Amino acid sequence: MQSFASHRLVEKHRGRWRIANRGRRLLNDELTRAAYEAFSTYHTGLYRDLEEVLACGGGRMDVKKDGDLIARLSRFMDEFVFAELDRLVAERSPRRLLDVGCATGTHVRRVLEAAPSASAVGVEADPAAAALARLSLEVGDVGDRAEIVDTDVERFLRERPGETFDFVLLANVIYYAPIRDRAVLLRALADRLNEDGRLVVVTTFLSDDAFSRHFDLLLRSQDGALELPDTDVLCGQLREAGLVPRAPRRIAAGQPLIAVVADRR
Ligand SMILES: C[S@@+](CC[C@H](N)C(=O)[O-])C[C@H]1O[C@@H](n2cnc3c(N)ncnc32)[C@H](O)[C@@H]1O
Repeated sequence: MQSFASHRLVEKHRGRWRIANRGRRLLNDELTRAAYEAFSTYHTGLYRDLEEVLACGGGRMDVKKDGDLIARLSRFMDEFVFAELDRLVAERSPRRLLDVGCATGTHVRRVLEAAPSASAVGVEADPAAAALARLSLEVGDVGDRAEIVDTDVERFLRERPGETFDFVLLANVIYYAPIRDRAVLLRALADRLNEDGRLVVVTTFLSDDAFSRHFDLLLRSQDGALELPDTDVLCGQLREAGLVPRAPRRIAAGQPLIAVVADRR
């Protein structure tokens, strides 16, 4: 309690502890709550269980167990992704967006608000996150132009053959595909792009930055041997998929976060 008090999160009132204004603001902030939950559970759990992870070689199930928490936490990158989406929509307004791993639907909303004649499909493998996206898109007037499908993106592509898009977004999701499967996934998505279509990957990339190293270790410890992308390898995979990647742009000062825009040849 003294420690909370020293951070002015709680205070003494008539001899009893109560939550201070600062603590209440923190409790009411959805992103801060997600950060506390995530860092006190799976982010630090990795190091508590590290010996076992190293001995057994992976096997953590955070992605499956904490899908909705991961989706909520990834909103801390929204301001950077929003700025990139605004830039891209201003450059060329899309008609139809596919958001792969759309989580809570914030990027679908941002694009539809910036492009009033566009429509969008958000594909989300986690049913709880997909439900949050549907709920949040009901507010305002973009809901009738957005569809949220709760399924794996590969299954979506199989079940909706012939459907095409001019903007395919993979924001903070490419690292959920094992590295050996990424070129195939990117090819399947590139095949759904219209003539003037583009595919955009936003991702934390592998670097010497401490967060990048932590995140990469967290991914490598998961069941399925995931890992952060190296920028050159990612650009190579986009080329293998038949796309022409532009130079990766760092979109958050000091953070290992990039956007790579890849056009059809
Ligand atoms: C880290 S979150 C990022 C969400 C959002 N794109 C963003 O940038 O805030 C990744 C999301 O992708 C979803 N996902 C992972 N693999 C997927 C797949 N193969 N098909 C559809 N969704 C997937 C996860 O369930 C999760 O909600």
